[in-house]
Amino acid sequence: MDKTKLPQHIAIIMDGNRRWAKKKGLPAVAGHKYVAEQGLEKIINAAKDLGIKYITLWAFSTENWDRSEQEVKAIMKLFHWGFSVMGKQLIKKGAKVRFIGDLTKFNQPLQRLMKNLTEKSQDNSAINVVFAVNYGGRDEILRTVKKIVTNVEAGRIDSTDLNEEYFTNQLDTKDIPEPDLIIRTSGEQRMSGFLPWQGIYAEYYFTDTLMPDFDENELKKAIEEYQKRDRRRGK
Ligand code: FPP
Repeated sequence: MDKTKLPQHIAIIMDGNRRWAKKKGLPAVAGHKYVAEQGLEKIINAAKDLGIKYITLWAFSTENWDRSEQEVKAIMKLFHWGFSVMGKQLIKKGAKVRFIGDLTKFNQPLQRLMKNLTEKSQDNSAINVVFAVNYGGRDEILRTVKKIVTNVEAGRIDSTDLNEEYFTNQLDTKDIPEPDLIIRTSGEQRMSGFLPWQGIYAEYYFTDTLMPDFDENELKKAIEEYQKRDRRRGK
């Protein structure tokens, strides 16, 4: 691996958890549990050790609320654990944690945990960890447009001054550089609304590996493939 050509920001669409569980004869949520309790920390540590500065993990989409009540509850329980117990570990390791997505849909205790973790880790710099929760690209763009309309109406900006930079700075991902590499696990080759504004120049990497099996070696393989790409950014 060429350490001088590392992606600054890797984003992962974590897919295939239920198929992994099914293959093993386990209940569907076992895949989510495995990723939350064992997979994530390993991947984050590996990314940090490799010198990756930003990693974004899509853990819950705006559409995921439509899953069974039992599955949604189980994922919320994992979030409670993850953003408290695992969160403390992340802080210890020097990670700066942020959340993107519409956080207002989560219950108050969970919103508090996310706020706390963001605040307590804000001075860290070993790696930036971004959790995308209740995230949908269209939803983010629509919320951003509403925010901008409010700003225009309040006279904070003139509509003729709106430009890409201003829009970028109103998104949930404000201050986070665009992803260089977007990985999707489990063989699906679609974006499903992940970072549509931010990802236009990202390199995409699709792997058949299911998310619970996506480990340090798989991450390295993705980075090696990324390093073979010729990134011209339209030039
Ligand atoms: C996609 O696989 C995965 C999800 C919708 C949920 C992912 C949630 C976690 C891994 C928990 C994360 C926890 C923390 C603490 C951040 P899928 O269920 O769509 O799998 P399938 O494609 O096999 O059905």
